[in-house]
Amino acid sequence: MKPVNVGLLGLGTVGAGTVNLLANNAKEIGRRAGRVVRITHAAVQNLDKPRECPTDGITLTTDPFAVVNDPDIDVVLELIGGEDDAYKLVMAAIEQGKHVVTANKHLIALHGNEIFAAADKHDVVVTFEAAVAGGIPIIKAIREGLAANHIEWLAGIINGTGNFILSQMKFEGADFAEALAEAQALGYAEADPTFDVDGIDAAHKLAILGSIAFGIPLSFDRIYTQGIRGIHADDIAYAEEMGYRIKHLGIARRNDGSIELRVHPTLVSEKALLANVEGEKNAVMVYGDAVGPTVYYGAGAGAGPTASAVVADLIDTVRMMSVDPTGRVPHLAFQPDQITDTPILGNE
Ligand code: HSE
Repeated sequence: MKPVNVGLLGLGTVGAGTVNLLANNAKEIGRRAGRVVRITHAAVQNLDKPRECPTDGITLTTDPFAVVNDPDIDVVLELIGGEDDAYKLVMAAIEQGKHVVTANKHLIALHGNEIFAAADKHDVVVTFEAAVAGGIPIIKAIREGLAANHIEWLAGIINGTGNFILSQMKFEGADFAEALAEAQALGYAEADPTFDVDGIDAAHKLAILGSIAFGIPLSFDRIYTQGIRGIHADDIAYAEEMGYRIKHLGIARRNDGSIELRVHPTLVSEKALLANVEGEKNAVMVYGDAVGPTVYYGAGAGAGPTASAVVADLIDTVRMMSVDPTGRVPHLAFQPDQITDTPILGNE
């Protein structure tokens, strides 16, 4: 089958992580996708900037619309972030019948309803696993793994920067500004870190989770949103005396026929799983009526974890493009007996 040509918008940390992951795991990714998947074009802001990945075989341009408009591109990866440019590019890609993978929570939270309607109209898919909780496959877990459940509630630590700041204040005695500067230096924070500390980034992600879990339209504007700026070291110490930790949570739950959506600092018993999620890590608990409570934990930011989610969406997209007339999706199931060159270490 013909290779799938991918156009990348943005070759920063996540874009470079995506190029590296596709190269490093090319064999597995190709087998699982059922096709060769290759990035042929990438749009960047500065052609001379050193990159964190090899760019051989990738045509670089400063014009993202040249990538979106290229008739040879099958799938567009939107990794530039932000709102306005990303919106125009994603809509242009959809209108030209191209599938889109995006890591952009801001874009999906604010414009997702319109974007998904356009994707339906043009028979393409828009996937966004990387938009929530980085490398944790929380969208797939709720949408596919828990598809048989009536979801009662979900609650999670979905902003790594905020969690990192609270952890540094508790364990390292750091003050708020120091901890934020460290999160920025480590690359966890948004370009505008007020999105992290004022709860906006978490609200973007909660809008997406709420929509997937409860089948409601994306409702970012309706979310009660409070950040962590007002938390002082004393608050953390008093909470500890009472056996609690302060965690910044996104919570979505059914309430008398309505759906409640809120983001705020919360007292969590120190014995609870979520209380013990530290640093930049994310964790989401989801309660389904059949399955009961489930927990998903992992890295919520960074090149590798975010690229992991982006490439998983890309593989799903390629599988979907390959559906044959019988409706079978080639390579949807992992075939263990295809791998004959790996030594097995058993109990003997
Ligand atoms: N600024 C975000 C966070 C990055 O700290 O969680 C990942 O979405």
